[in-house]
This record gives sequence, C-alpha cells and structure tokens, in this order.
Amino acid sequence: MALFRKKRGTDDTIKNGAQLITVADPRSAISEQFRTIRTNINFMSVDKEIHTLAFTSANISEGKSTVTANVAITYAQAGRKTLLIDGDLRRPTLHSTFNVKNNTGLTTVLTSEADEINLNDVVEESGIENLSILTSGPIPPNPAELIGSRRMETFIELVKSHYDMVIIDLPPVLEVSDTQELASHLDGVVLVVRQSVTQKAGITRAVQMLKFAKARVLGYVMNDIRAENGGYGYGYGYGYGYGYGYGAEKKKGLFGRKKSDGQ
Ligand SMILES: Nc1ncnc2c1ncn2[C@@H]1O[C@H](COP(=O)(O)OP(=O)(O)O)[C@@H](O)[C@H]1O
Ligand SMILES: [Mg+2]
Repeated sequence: MALFRKKRGTDDTIKNGAQLITVADPRSAISEQFRTIRTNINFMSVDKEIHTLAFTSANISEGKSTVTANVAITYAQAGRKTLLIDGDLRRPTLHSTFNVKNNTGLTTVLTSEADEINLNDVVEESGIENLSILTSGPIPPNPAELIGSRRMETFIELVKSHYDMVIIDLPPVLEVSDTQELASHLDGVVLVVRQSVTQKAGITRAVQMLKFAKARVLGYVMNDIRAENGGYGYGYGYGYGYGYGYGAEKKKGLFGRKKSDGQ
C-alpha cells in the first residue's frame, strides 16, 4: 500500500521551464502547428480584435505553460509587440522558462501602494525580438484576491496600451478561482486540453465555469496529440502534437452545446 498519495502532475516546467520549440526549431511541424493556433485564434475573433488573451486548462499539468509560451512566441515572431505574463501565482514557470530571477513581477505590481505603475520596473526583455515578459513575482498567500483585484484590471488596461498583444498564463479552472476572477476582463480565453488525460466532463465543467464568469471562450488547444489517436501523425521524437479545434469538436458537443448555439 502506498504511504503517500501519488502526486498529480509534474513540477518539471516549474523547475526547468517550458520547452520553447518555436525558438529551438521554428521550421518544425510543431512550430507550424503553433502558428496555425495563432492564426485560428485571430480567425475566431474577426469581429473584435484580440489584444488580451489568457490560456487556462481544467487541471494542472495539461501543458498550459508550454502552449502559452510557444503561442506568445509565434505572435512575437509575426512582428506583434507581445507581453507574456505569468498569472499562475501558484505554479509559476515563466522565470524558469526564460532563466530570469523572480524577485519582482506581477505580484509586485498588484501589492504595491504606489499610484503609478512603472512597467520598466517589472517587465523584462525575453531575448526574443518583440517579446517582453512579466514573471509572477513572489508567491502571495492570496492569489485569487490579487488576480481578481481592481488593480489587476487597471494593470491590464495599462499594458494593453503598450503592447499589441498581452498573453497570460492562468491557473486551471477546476482547481482555483483565480481565472474566473479575471476572465471577463480579457478579450478571450483559450482552454488547453491534454488528449487522453483531460476528462470530457472536466472540459465541459471548465467551459461552464468560464462562461458563468462571463469569459469569452475562443476555443481550445488540443495538446499532446499522439499519432495512434488518429490525430496529427507527425512522427516527432517529442511525442508532441498541437492542434487547434473548435468547429469539429463543437459538433460533437465538447463544449456542451449544440452547433446552432453560435458565439
Ligand atoms: N505535448 C507534450 N508532449 C510531451 N510533454 C508535454 C507536452 N506538453 C506538456 N508537456 C510536459 O508536461 C508537463 C506539464 O506541462 P506544463 O506546460 O507545465 O503544464 P501546466 O502549465 O498546464 O501545468 C511538463 O513536464 C511539460 O514539459
Ligand atoms: Mg503551468
């Protein structure tokens, strides 16, 4: 009998950062898939251009930080001035991914009492053209309160005026309330789903919760699609696969509603 309950997920990206395939191998099929994800996100919002976008998932370790960082890079590579924010104040990874210190960051801004927010104090260059980063900062005892604060809203408005695209890595919807607190103040939210791991009921519940919080759910990214699942059969050593779905899965009711519901 196991003495301890098996720990869920992995802390790999927390310690070592996310794998940036879009930087390491921009010509690879996987990088191309990330570019397709970017294009599809743009298509999803022809009526209203997206300037603030968050990625979330149902549970931890579904590939959210990996997908968020790589999609942000493809926006930067397309020439959009992009800010990538680590909004996962419980399992932050961005500082590890870009190998920078995390002594200051988003929480510094949110807990500061100064009226003015000086972005130069907290935002850093990533080393990738057009991509700036804002790490989580020291982990606070009250993340949901901070993410849902008026100051966070003010901060989002401020960064929007400085960047073409603001992309936030937010914690999983079924685990904590942070994402719901902020979601309605963003132009769109994308759900990361890990094939064969994320339960369908979990996805449906996550989407329900986001909608309840008045988020604009743009679609989902199917992560870790294996060839044997009949997905994108790129025989890559990584076992990576990324796709972006909406229409087809919508018909199947993945989002818990009928095709005619629209949005
Ligand atoms: N498509 C994939 N193939 C293989 N490993 C992956 C894939 N996506 C994510 N991972 C790994 O899964 C773990 C969790 O990913 P991460 O991006 O940190 O998820 P989250 O932010 O949702 O917790 C990490 O070790 C990461 O390297
Ligand atoms: Mg993460």
